[in-house]
Amino acid sequence: AGQRGRGAQVRHFATIARVPGDPILGLLDAYRADGNPAKLDLGVGVYKDASGLTPIPRAVKLAEQRLIDGETSKTYIGGHGAPEFGERLLELCFGNGNALLADGLLGATQTPGGTGALRLAGEFIARNLPGRGIWLSDPTWPIHETLFAACGLKVGHYSYVGADNRLNVEAMLAALAHLPKGDVVLLHACCHNPTGFDLAPRDWKRVLEVVKARELLPLIDFAYQGFGDGLEEDAWAVRLFAAELPELLVTSSCSKNFGLYRERTGALIVRADNLEKLLDIRSQLAFLARNLWSTPPSHGAAVVAEILGDTELKALWAAEVDAMRRRVADLRTGLAEALRPHGLAERFAHIAEQRGMFSYTGLTPAQVQRLRDEFSVYLVSSGRASVAGMSEARLDYLAGAIARVCQA
Ligand code: LMR
Repeated sequence: AGQRGRGAQVRHFATIARVPGDPILGLLDAYRADGNPAKLDLGVGVYKDASGLTPIPRAVKLAEQRLIDGETSKTYIGGHGAPEFGERLLELCFGNGNALLADGLLGATQTPGGTGALRLAGEFIARNLPGRGIWLSDPTWPIHETLFAACGLKVGHYSYVGADNRLNVEAMLAALAHLPKGDVVLLHACCHNPTGFDLAPRDWKRVLEVVKARELLPLIDFAYQGFGDGLEEDAWAVRLFAAELPELLVTSSCSKNFGLYRERTGALIVRADNLEKLLDIRSQLAFLARNLWSTPPSHGAAVVAEILGDTELKALWAAEVDAMRRRVADLRTGLAEALRPHGLAERFAHIAEQRGMFSYTGLTPAQVQRLRDEFSVYLVSSGRASVAGMSEARLDYLAGAIARVCQA
C-alpha cells in the first residue's frame, strides 16, 4: 500500500539531471577506488609527507591540546569570527607593525576556508558593487569560474599562460589594460593555481600601475602563504597593493599552511580608505555571511589564533611550513632530474622553476588520461600535477610514466 501511495505522488525531482563530478575533488574518489598498489595521487592540492600522509603539524596538535583543556564553551562566535584570529591573521598577512594595522584600515572576516572567503567576496561584489565584472587569469582554479558565476557575476579572462605553457606577462598586461574601468581583477598572491607560474616583483609593480590606470579593484587570492618562497616573501605583493591602493580585497586560507584543510579556516580581508568605510563594509559582510553560513566554524580559527599568539608555537609552526616548502621544492627539482634520462629534462624544465604546490606540466588531456589508465597516476585533466603529492621514492616511476605517454 505504501508503494502504491508513493506511486500516486507527483515527482518533483523528475527533471533533475546529473552533473559531472568536481574536476578536482572527483579525482579523490577515482583514486581511492583504484586497486593498483603503484597508484599516485597528484590531483587535489594537499601536502603529503614521504609516507604519503597529509600530516597534522605538531604546532597544530599542541594548540588543539590546549584548546581541549581550556575551552569552556561552544556558544556561537560572532559573524566576523574570533577577533583574536582576525587580528593575528592580519599580522601574518601584512606583517607586524604594518601602518595600516595600526590605523585600523584592515578588517578580517572569518570564513569557512578560502573558498568561503571567495564566495563572500563574490556576494559582496554582486550586491554592493552591482554591474562590475570579475576577471580571472586564463587558466585559473576551476572553482573560481563556477563560484563567481554562481554569485551572478559576469566572469571574463585575461591572458596568463601562452600556448607554449609559459607565463606571458606582456600578454597579461595588455589584457588588463583593456578591462572595463572599475571591474574586479582576481590575482593569485603566490603559488598560482593551477600553473605554478608566479609574477616577479617587477611584474607586480607593472600590474599595479595598470590596476591604478584602469581603476580596477583587485581581489587577491592568498591560499598558499609559505609555500612559494617563504611566509614573509609570499606576502610581498599583498603588502605592496595594500600600501599603494586605498581599497583592496584579499582572501586568505589556512588550509595548506596550517594543514587545517577539513577544518575550513580562512578569512576575507578588506583594506578600506578610512575607518568609517571599513565599518560600513564590515556591516555588509556580516549581513551576507549571516545569510550564507550564519557564523563561521570555530575550531580551526581557534587553533590558528593559539599558534600565532604564542611565540614558541609560532616558531615551531613557521619551521614546519618551511620544511614543507623545501620538500616540495626538492620534489620539483627531483622530478626534473628523473626526467633527464628520458631526454625530457629540457621539455619539463619549467617544473623546477614554478612555485608552490602545483605544476602545469603541459601534458594534454589525452596524456593525462593515459597516465591514469595505464599507470594509475592521477592529475587534473588540465595537466596540473600536485607536486606536493609526490614522493621521492616514486619519482622514477612517475618520470617513466610521463616518458611513455609523451612518446608519439
Ligand atoms: C586544489 O586546487 O586542489 C585545492 O585548492 C583544493 C581545492 O579545494 O580544490
